[in-house]
Amino acid sequence: MAFREYKIGARLFGVALGGSMIITLYMPTVDMTSVTVTETGLKKQLSYGRIGGFSYEDPFLQGEGKPKTVVLNKDPSSNAPMETVEAFVYEAGIPFPSGINHPRTLGPGATELSVQKGRVEEADHNSGAVFVISRGTHNGETVNYIENATVTRGWQPSQVLNAGGDANTQYIGSGKIMFVREGCWWCHTLLPEQTQDWQYFGIPPRLGDFNGESPTAFGSDRKAPDLLHVGSRNSSKEWMMMHFFNPRLVQPHSIMPRYDYLWGEQDADGKAIDFDAWRAAYNDYKAGKVVYPPDVPSYAADSEIRYLMDFILSLK
Ligand code: HEC
Repeated sequence: MAFREYKIGARLFGVALGGSMIITLYMPTVDMTSVTVTETGLKKQLSYGRIGGFSYEDPFLQGEGKPKTVVLNKDPSSNAPMETVEAFVYEAGIPFPSGINHPRTLGPGATELSVQKGRVEEADHNSGAVFVISRGTHNGETVNYIENATVTRGWQPSQVLNAGGDANTQYIGSGKIMFVREGCWWCHTLLPEQTQDWQYFGIPPRLGDFNGESPTAFGSDRKAPDLLHVGSRNSSKEWMMMHFFNPRLVQPHSIMPRYDYLWGEQDADGKAIDFDAWRAAYNDYKAGKVVYPPDVPSYAADSEIRYLMDFILSLK
């Protein structure tokens, strides 16, 4: 009898822990599975991959283990011209997002179509797969679903990457990792609200935009413009490059930090980037000694700034 009160306490603790687990883990899942994923939601999970933050395949947030998004205007196996399609390429070993592993999370209609017509359950992450977003009807309504193009169209990951080439390939998933790692969300939100925000930042997201996204990057306290649709109001790569290298090049009073280190050591031609020389030239410009600021170095195809740029410009 001596330890009776501990037993009661232990049971109460179990009830409290179990209850909070059900509330935080299980109930949101039930909620999400009752919502049909939108086209935006599918595009996000297919282009971001399994996790858009810390994960075992990418513990140091370097953008590894992520899919690539390829814009195709000809069929990669027959070379026949076709309407532009975005293909999400998972090379061998790249983990699939939750909509492929657990189609139930795609919500009513999208689950059934993805499994029956899209054949997502036949995809195997050990050998890789290519997915596209397709449209079908379910109970008379148009529904977007995931199609496993490796099974339905015979598209192999390497074939799609070759057909698209580097110019049509985007590292959106790796770029989201940069966004999370660099803390862009300390200042920026990805959540226009239902207020006058509409007028400048564009429409707020819908619930179905978030099926399968983990983690979301809403941000918290907005100190800078919302970025959910930034690629629609400014799609200039040149402006973005100058702004990321040193925001003061385009916005003299900007409080945004420089992200020049995301360029890495070498520029697009493999030449070492001399940051000291660049800053010296920039200081001369700021002091009014020269009329123009120095040119921003072009970035290498596999640089971290390329990832981030592909992500930011995908926010349409
Ligand atoms: C210290 C706060 C801060 C951080 C951190 C920050 N920004 Fe900014 N950002 C701003 C401010 C303020 C502006 C508006 C002034 C300007 O254009 O520089 C801005 C502007 C922008 C714009 C242009 C927005 C528009 O409406 O055209 C983009 C794109 C952007 N930031 C991306 C990023 C990304 C990506 C990161 C992370 C790598 C980041 N920012 C980190 C403060 C920040």
